[in-house]
Amino acid sequence: MAHGPSHARRSLPLLTLLIHACVLLRVPAAVRAERTGYIVHMDKPAMPAHHADHREWYAAAVASVTDASADDDVAEPQLLYTYDEALHGFAATLSASELRTLRGSPGFVAAYPDRRATTLHDTTHSMEFLGLNSASGLWPAAKFGDGVIIGMIDTGVWPESASFNDADMPPVPSRWRGTCEPGVQFTPSMCNRKLIGARYFNKGLVAANPSINISMNSTRDMDGHGTHTSSTAGGSAVPCASYFGYGRGTARGVAPRAHVAMYKVSWPEGRYASDVLAGMDAAIADGVDIISISSGFNGVPLYEDPVAIAAFAAIERGILVSASAGNNGPRPGTLHNGIPWLLTVAAGTVDRKMFAGTVYYDDMRGSIGGVTTYPENAWIVYTRLVYNDIVSACDSKEALANSTTAIVVCRDTGDLVEQLNAVAEAGVAGAIFISDDADFHDSMPLPAVIISPEDAPALLSYINSRTVPTAAMKFQQTILGTRPAPVVTSYSSRGPSPSYAGVLKPDILAPGDHILASVAPVRPFAMVGQTQLTSNFLVESGTSMACPHASGVAALLRAVHPDWSPAMIKSAIMTTATATDNTNNPIAAAGDGNATIASPLDMGSGHVDPNAAMDPGLVYDAGPGDFVALLCAANYTNAQIMAITRSSTAYNCSSASSDVNYPSFVATFGANATSGDMRFKRTVTNVGAGSAVYRAAWVSPRNVEVAVSPGTLEFNTVGQTATFEVVIKLTAPTGGEPAFGAVVWADVSGKYRVRTPYVVL
Ligand SMILES: *[C@@H]1O[C@H](CO)[C@@H](O)[C@H](O)[C@H]1NC(C)=O
Ligand SMILES: *[C@@H]1O[C@H](CO)[C@@H](O)[C@H](O)[C@H]1NC(C)=O
Ligand SMILES: *[C@@H]1O[C@H](CO)[C@@H](O)[C@H](O)[C@H]1NC(C)=O
Ligand SMILES: *[C@@H]1O[C@H](CO)[C@@H](O)[C@H](O)[C@H]1NC(C)=O
Ligand SMILES: *[C@@H]1O[C@H](CO)[C@@H](O)[C@H](O)[C@H]1NC(C)=O
Ligand SMILES: *[C@@H]1O[C@H](CO)[C@@H](O)[C@H](O)[C@H]1NC(C)=O
Ligand SMILES: *[C@@H]1O[C@H](CO)[C@@H](O)[C@H](O)[C@H]1NC(C)=O
Repeated sequence: MAHGPSHARRSLPLLTLLIHACVLLRVPAAVRAERTGYIVHMDKPAMPAHHADHREWYAAAVASVTDASADDDVAEPQLLYTYDEALHGFAATLSASELRTLRGSPGFVAAYPDRRATTLHDTTHSMEFLGLNSASGLWPAAKFGDGVIIGMIDTGVWPESASFNDADMPPVPSRWRGTCEPGVQFTPSMCNRKLIGARYFNKGLVAANPSINISMNSTRDMDGHGTHTSSTAGGSAVPCASYFGYGRGTARGVAPRAHVAMYKVSWPEGRYASDVLAGMDAAIADGVDIISISSGFNGVPLYEDPVAIAAFAAIERGILVSASAGNNGPRPGTLHNGIPWLLTVAAGTVDRKMFAGTVYYDDMRGSIGGVTTYPENAWIVYTRLVYNDIVSACDSKEALANSTTAIVVCRDTGDLVEQLNAVAEAGVAGAIFISDDADFHDSMPLPAVIISPEDAPALLSYINSRTVPTAAMKFQQTILGTRPAPVVTSYSSRGPSPSYAGVLKPDILAPGDHILASVAPVRPFAMVGQTQLTSNFLVESGTSMACPHASGVAALLRAVHPDWSPAMIKSAIMTTATATDNTNNPIAAAGDGNATIASPLDMGSGHVDPNAAMDPGLVYDAGPGDFVALLCAANYTNAQIMAITRSSTAYNCSSASSDVNYPSFVATFGANATSGDMRFKRTVTNVGAGSAVYRAAWVSPRNVEVAVSPGTLEFNTVGQTATFEVVIKLTAPTGGEPAFGAVVWADVSGKYRVRTPYVVL
């Protein structure tokens, strides 16, 4: 089943493939040297004085390395992009010998092959679940995100979507330097005060696949992903939104008065690192406040990860980057974007059962709630029920031939989609499937409800007790207040971060499951009989949906605290997160009957609490220099560090330290360690009431002891800092299982609780 809400959770394959010259498949390799894409880092301050600017310098550098034996059709290597914000350097197609020559050029720092990542894919109610309300808290304090600009790095946008209506929007900020690029089916007039920028980047994709046809060469979204994420982060309010009647309500972004700018870097034809870098480079130059990126590159070191490289430049400009953890859970160590200087977001459920329907029987005296996605407001009444051994497995048209006016009751024999199609083809009036699959969210081609095996006996005994049993069915129901919620979804990728295990990742849990938001109505999402149906709203699940929730919260915090650094905003989000669910128990991880308590490697600090994040009491700040100290301690080479920092002069490794001022801790002893201790130094800044006294408390697991000194912190003024040390001591082997705890600073007035989780590995 290619269409329908099942699309919802699209997972990113683990591997990012290096492209090896599909470029010249049709010509004998011996005759022509192949050119492939490279991202080249240059030392901009080392530019020889005779060049007018860096563009000319990079162009000259590329022109000067031209290899005579290379492809005759393309006489010169191609300069694809010059970068100036995310990194200093350029993307170009080069042959191996041209690259060798370039390495000897003055100012050369490093070059990495352009990478292809398979296109990822990696909301009405989620706002209420986050506690956002118009009367009090972060929404009114932030004027709903007024004046903040969110840059989306994604698949483009559907500008006609009602979520980008600008009726209630303030003017475009005068500091905005972005543009609305024309392209296929996209004109500059399609931008407005909500969607203030639209740009697209595919030179890396085209260079790697010269014969490719770009199906929509513009910022227009042909996938739906970018429309969904951008409307989730900053969409205007749209009343009466629903997905075929499910999840009906007002759809709005987390920051409904923020401006949105789209940078399309991800194409149905592919996604390349050079294009992602170009999009983030442009977003930084254009003046966005928040960058939201619901995709990542798996298995790359920090200095080759375009998101890490661009995010470092972003934090230097005070731009917070929020990124999805990926959908490769629940195995440990599966996340991407585990980058110390950005916010890594995991996906949780909300307290809503999106796709619900009801079966009524025995003259409405009995009823059973179930799962349905049937996309119509059907109300099937007093229809004969058929259940017998022949049709209990509803995969035979012949067996069903006598039941065309009936509702058939079937036991799930394996593939629900196949069985639904079979009963639809047989032409029965409706179907009831007895199945464990409570998460079914493919589209249903006929009126059908899935009920659980526990609920089945009541219905079956009613059927057996009557000569002509009948039932009624109702659809398009959405149930609120379900418990427990949130639950960490099983697909949400887990820490530790493969690219830097010393910082606890993910950072935060946000709503990502069954999220209703705008979509590009470019393909069918459901089918009734032979009729394909599309929709302006779609229910999707994934960390892709969680990330823009966190981005929107960051945008609101930016509006309330324009002077805070990205690390301070991130700290406020993390230290105020809740580790308990709506039953007041520790948040669970899905699977296992919700019996497993989610660990910080599943959900970071816990579930985002926007209203609490507005006033966190204390924050842990860290600037670019602190993260450079961390890179130095990781023993990266100068060229590797410069690929991230861009500058040979702004930073140095005189104070290498892996103990960055982060609002969480990782103590790595190793599976076989029998004892040991790890010390962490932290500095907190008072952003709460002027004078305050905080006392330390902690929760520690078996075989681990924690000490915090001093145990009391006193503040007299806002902005004052205080430093303390945390010692995590192992007293007996952990047996290879990670152990978890938390250190909490609570102020004596009872107003603030500043919580930092830790992991013992
Ligand atoms: C691109 O489009 C042209 C014209 O429609 C077609 O001839 C060509 O085969 C297409 N190329 C690819 C790679 O699909
Ligand atoms: C896409 O459009 C841009 C701008 O019009 C153009 O320069 C570029 O060549 C186009 N790319 C493709 C692959 O058609
Ligand atoms: C369908 O009904 C006909 C006539 O009543 C009967 O002969 C036949 O066996 C039935 N088929 C099945 C599969 O029940
Ligand atoms: C686990 O949590 C999910 C999400 O709230 C809920 O739908 C499901 O019923 C729970 N499962 C059990 C066995 O409690
Ligand atoms: C870095 O190198 C130093 C000195 O050789 C060594 O002590 C340290 O363990 C190394 N750090 C890492 C993360 O490899
Ligand atoms: C390294 O950076 C520190 C802090 O910016 C500075 O004080 C020091 O002089 C620098 N050292 C070198 C060798 O550049
Ligand atoms: C831990 O000890 C086991 C059993 O002695 C050994 O197989 C394993 O390699 C050790 N692991 C490490 C990380 O030293």
